[in-house]
Amino acid sequence: MYDGTEPDFGKLIGPGRVHRSVYTDPAIFEIEMERLFGRAWVFVGHDSQIPEPGDYITTKIGRQPVILIRHGDGKPYVLLNRCAHRGAKVCNEACGNAKRLVCLYHGWSYDTDGTLLGVTMPEGSARDFDVAEFGLARAPRIAAYRGFIFASLSAEGAGFDEFLGPMKANIDDLVDRAPDGEILLDAGRHRYSYRGNWKLQIENVLDSYHVPFSHASTVNEKGEQFSRREGDEKGAKVVEGSGKKDSKTSDAWKGRRSYVVDFGHGWTSKTDLNDKGRTSPAWDAYRKALAAKVGEDRMEEILTPQFHNSLLYPNCSVMGLNIHVRVVHPVAVDRTEVVVYPIRLKGAPDEMNFRNIRLLNVTHSGASFVQTDDLESFRRTQEGLHSLQSDWVDISRGLGEEEADRRYNATSESAMHEMAVRAQYKAWLHYMSGGT
Ligand code: FES
Ligand SMILES: [Fe+2]
Repeated sequence: MYDGTEPDFGKLIGPGRVHRSVYTDPAIFEIEMERLFGRAWVFVGHDSQIPEPGDYITTKIGRQPVILIRHGDGKPYVLLNRCAHRGAKVCNEACGNAKRLVCLYHGWSYDTDGTLLGVTMPEGSARDFDVAEFGLARAPRIAAYRGFIFASLSAEGAGFDEFLGPMKANIDDLVDRAPDGEILLDAGRHRYSYRGNWKLQIENVLDSYHVPFSHASTVNEKGEQFSRREGDEKGAKVVEGSGKKDSKTSDAWKGRRSYVVDFGHGWTSKTDLNDKGRTSPAWDAYRKALAAKVGEDRMEEILTPQFHNSLLYPNCSVMGLNIHVRVVHPVAVDRTEVVVYPIRLKGAPDEMNFRNIRLLNVTHSGASFVQTDDLESFRRTQEGLHSLQSDWVDISRGLGEEEADRRYNATSESAMHEMAVRAQYKAWLHYMSGGT
């Protein structure tokens, strides 16, 4: 329990601005762990990671270590990864299969639903020691949608259906791309960490504005690399950031839209996967497999997904192009770890799934061409925010230009604006002020 003097959170978030302490104050971080990660529905894992009884993965909700495990009754359980004896983490592998969970320290063993099976040297236990009282604690609430498993460490608060709301359609949009109607998060994972606040990564997921600039070396056309060197001919042609002229790439991105809904969730607009009459043996085989399951018309619909880059606030993003699920773990106010799971589409040709994984290696691994650009921006932002030049971070692009979107029961704006970041802070303020 945080027991210091509490900031007035309402004064830290203004129209189009955020106080820098939201990224730098360790006391605010502590309150986030308690009020936001301690109560929100948080993505913990996917059914395909624990297909058999005894299968488990270890992860975190906020800073709290948890085990997602399938019990003998076929149900997934989210157990707090803390021995009921003296507190040691019971499960230390990233994933595995266990008939029971045995603590290294003094050998207490637990069933896969957390029930304490037995203590070692039981004759020494206190007279009133009751095994039934010493199981691994369970997350009070757990729920799933199409394989995506979420848990809440609070017994109370918004229900799962209310929380997920229109984001179900985002998940459908991706999962329907699998000819067998299921996705698999079973192809390993990438991990990276950065010296910056967790919200920098979350904000970045729906920040299309940065793409033509931060990722210029990857997305811009040849000859459009941005350079500010005086007298450099190429640099003089395209002076990004000067306000004089935009590149073809940034012009192309201006047509994209962002959408936000309650709870800080959002997404950016559609991606046409059939782009430019794409063809290859693997792609053609995939289309055939999908059409065989859903018919030609539905296949064409599915391959023009309406959603792209979905953010499930506060800790998960699902990207539809170089397909993956990304999970953000806050470590400290200025330290964050991120796990990226490649997605395999069940029923798609192996060759296509393999290529998707290879693409992700290039774009989102810790040593990739794209993700590293962002990590450098996060580090620079965290360092820059220690400057006392201004207390405010500006998130005002497009303020007042938001439009209601009845199709999705959402609010929409140009993806080059900062509406999605503002929506995240609306949710943040709600959680931090005591709302659920
Ligand atoms: S801390 Fe786990 S058995 Fe003692
Ligand atoms: Fe980026």
